[in-house]
Amino acid sequence: MKMTLPLFTFLFFSFGMFAADVAAGKATYDKSCKRCHGGDGAANGAIAKMMKVEMRHLGSKEVQAKSDAELKKESVEGVGKMKGVALADGDATNLVAFLRTLKQ
Ligand code: HEC
Repeated sequence: MKMTLPLFTFLFFSFGMFAADVAAGKATYDKSCKRCHGGDGAANGAIAKMMKVEMRHLGSKEVQAKSDAELKKESVEGVGKMKGVALADGDATNLVAFLRTLKQ
């Protein structure tokens, strides 16, 4: 028991922190990205049509092949016809953690 408790506490907090990141990232995504990229990363067809651009699924191999730094940069600074979304660095990090969960 003496050894179990610290181990349990460690695992609990490690997992808790990880879960919080993704949950916070999802909140940011829902607020700032969902209207164009859809709840699951599949593009909103009406937006793609309006912006006259092909939008890939954010969970596609092509998008998921990008590094965390690239995804962060594209989200914050924009990419192609997409304007950047102003985010604090911590929020952008959580957001990328959430984008990884969209992987198909
Ligand atoms: C106003 C609509 C809009 C919003 C809001 C938006 N995007 Fe986009 N996003 C686009 C469009 C359109 C493209 C395609 C741009 C192009 O290829 O010219 C794109 C492209 C991307 C790409 C590159 C995908 C690829 O095929 O390589 C990523 C990554 C991305 N968006 C992430 C995000 C994230 C994360 C957010 C929220 C912080 C976000 N976007 C908010 C419209 C939007």
